[in-house]
Amino acid sequence: MKTRITELFGIEHPIIQGGMHHVGYAELASAVSNAGGLGIITGLTQGSPENLAREIAKCREMTDKPFGVNLTFLPAFTAPPYPEYIRAIIEGGVRIVETAGRNPEAYLPAMKQAGIKVIHKCTSVRHSLKAERIGCDAVSVDGFECGGHPGEDDIPNMILLPRAAEELSVPFVASGGIGNAAQFVAALALGADGINMGTRFIATKEAPVHQNVKDALIAASELDTRLIMRPLRNTERVLANAAVDKVLEIEREAGSSVGIDDIKDLVSGVYPKILQGGEMDAGAWSCGMVAGLIHDVPTCKDLIDGLMSEAESLIRGRLASVL
Ligand SMILES: Cc1cc2nc3c(=O)[nH]c(=O)nc-3n(C[C@H](O)[C@H](O)[C@H](O)COP(=O)(O)O)c2cc1C
Repeated sequence: MKTRITELFGIEHPIIQGGMHHVGYAELASAVSNAGGLGIITGLTQGSPENLAREIAKCREMTDKPFGVNLTFLPAFTAPPYPEYIRAIIEGGVRIVETAGRNPEAYLPAMKQAGIKVIHKCTSVRHSLKAERIGCDAVSVDGFECGGHPGEDDIPNMILLPRAAEELSVPFVASGGIGNAAQFVAALALGADGINMGTRFIATKEAPVHQNVKDALIAASELDTRLIMRPLRNTERVLANAAVDKVLEIEREAGSSVGIDDIKDLVSGVYPKILQGGEMDAGAWSCGMVAGLIHDVPTCKDLIDGLMSEAESLIRGRLASVL
């Protein structure tokens, strides 16, 4: 399959594995890239620019295919040393960066100068247009279904993607809620040049997370995610668990006066305990509604090969046959 995204990134299949905190390590990124997709190492998860440089070097040992790095621009009191992270990316020879969170404009000149292609993740058409205007090469359009931060507009992909197609000139991928070939084909029909998946890639053999996490995804239905931090306008879609119930209770009781300090222990610094430690009630962790469509734990290659071959038969078979 050839799309503007496969051409832009020099990859075989238009399938991207979105950056994921405490999941996006070399093991997963290289497996996705070796399968012909675009694997992404999560920059800030590495903890320091030096560690990121080491993770990039490790990934390069594991694949000779293109892979990227995610840089998430957080609303943090003490900002991570982004210029140093970018230096590690450039010196590591990585030529694709997925940005997310705040506007990446201040960091674009350094990346562009190094020949890096930037795909910015956005949850609205207006932010996508802004990304295009400031010079991003592509956009990842993240619908309300997504795991992680869906923004505050609550527009699902059935509307968001065709709206993005109406407005955008740069290539874009559909992100959020995608896990099977029918959805992949639908995303292409809605105007996307490929797909970005997060949650689905956690339930793969190579994802370096505890088996409890993969089991939880298989057990979960599409009804099992919750939205937390709405009152803080930092909404996150997470898998329901005891800690999330507690967060929602605190939010309900405090009403509009709730502050991040009220829930900090349940939402911050908990990822290693859950994702690597398998302590499934230790805190809130991002998870998409697509959990309801996850029924197995394949290798990344089997997952991507399956998506590609089923998409082809859907297009040639079911879709062509209705004409
Ligand atoms: C556990 C988890 C952690 C994530 N961490 C990040 C992150 O650090 N930075 C980021 O830009 N996106 C992050 N995301 C969002 C994904 O990159 C991707 O956009 C999202 O998962 C797509 O929705 P889906 O899960 O429905 O496929 C995370 C998602 C999950 C499930």
